[in-house]
Amino acid sequence: MDNHSIKVNYCSTGKVKPKSDELEFGRIFTDHMFIMDYSDSLGWHDARIIPYQPLLIDPSAMVFHYGQSVFEGLKAYHTPEGDAQLFRPKKNLERINRSNDRLCIPELDEEFALHAIKQLVGIDKDWIPKADGTSLYIRPFIISTEAYLGVAPSRHYQFIVILSPVGAYYKEGINPVKIAVENKYVRTVAGGTGEAKTGGNYAASLKAQELVANSGYAQVLWLDGVEREYIEEVGSMNVFFKINGEIVTPALNGSILKGVTRDSVIELLKHWDIPVVERKISMQELYDAHENGSLEEAFGAGTAAVISPIGQLTWNGDHIIINNAETGSVSKKLYDTLTGIQYGKQEDPFGWIE
Ligand code: COI
Repeated sequence: MDNHSIKVNYCSTGKVKPKSDELEFGRIFTDHMFIMDYSDSLGWHDARIIPYQPLLIDPSAMVFHYGQSVFEGLKAYHTPEGDAQLFRPKKNLERINRSNDRLCIPELDEEFALHAIKQLVGIDKDWIPKADGTSLYIRPFIISTEAYLGVAPSRHYQFIVILSPVGAYYKEGINPVKIAVENKYVRTVAGGTGEAKTGGNYAASLKAQELVANSGYAQVLWLDGVEREYIEEVGSMNVFFKINGEIVTPALNGSILKGVTRDSVIELLKHWDIPVVERKISMQELYDAHENGSLEEAFGAGTAAVISPIGQLTWNGDHIIINNAETGSVSKKLYDTLTGIQYGKQEDPFGWIE
C-alpha cells in the first residue's frame, strides 16, 4: 500500500443530511465508507471508498464468535474558514496498532490509514455539522472475517472507516453528571485487554451501567479488578480529580486506556503550570479528600464528550457532592481550550491539528 491508491466509487444520490442542532451521538452515517481487506497471502489490499452500505459477512466469521476486533474514535471539525480539520489523528493510529498487537491483528500502515481517513472525510466534507458542539465522528475499526470456528487468530480481516455527524455524547453536555462507584463488576484487569480499544471491554461494561442508569446515573466509576480499591476510569473515559490544587489521574497500569484526550489534558495542564500527577488513587483517599474539603473538582476526559464534569459520586450509599455539583474552573478551562483548538477558534501551540 505504498502508492496511496484508493479506488473510489461515489454514491449516485446522497442521503438527506440531518439538521445540525438536532444531532445525537452516533445514529446517522454519511454517504461513503472506506474498506480494505487483509489475507495472509496478500496482506492489506484492495483499499476502496464505496457508498455506505451493509457488509456481507459469513455467519461463521470469527469476529461474531470470539470478538477479535479493535476500533478507534476521533473527530473532524468544521473551522470558521470552512475547512475540515482533525485532532491528533496519528495518536489514534498509533493506538490502533497497539490494540492490534494485543488482539493478534496484523499491523496497519499508519500513514496509509491516515491518508484513507483524510480522503474519506474530504469526500463527505459537507456532512461535517456546523452547530456548536457538533462534529463528524470518525470510527475506524478492524474485524476478523475468516469463516472458522476454531479459537485462533483469524487469517482474514477488514479495516473499515465510517463517519457519523454527532452532537453531545451526554445529554448533560459540559454540565456535571452523576456517577455511581462500581463495587461488584470490573471492566478489565492489568494483563487483560483494558489498554486496548476492543469491543469486549465495552461489552463487559454494559451490565454495571444498565444497573445504575435507572437511578439517574450517567455512568459508573470503575475500580481496579484485583484490590477493588484503586480508581481506573469513568464510563468509557479517563478520569481526573483536583485535590488541594493538584490534578491527579490514575497512572497507566495496563488496564487503563491511554486516552488521546487524557494525554492532551496532561499536556495542557503542564503548559499552564497547573500541578498534575499520574499515580494510583484509591476510592478511600478520594472520600477522605471530600470529607476534609480538599476534593475540588472531578471530570472525565474522552474523545466523545471531551470533558465531562462529575457533580456527584455515590459510593456505598454515601453521596459525595463535588464543587456544589457545578462545573469547576479547571474543567471549564480545559473544555474551552480543547474545543477552541479543535474547532480552529484558538491557536494550536502543540501542533495537534492536521
Ligand atoms: C471516548 O470517549 O473517546 C470513547 O471511547 C467513547 C466511545 C466508545 C463512544
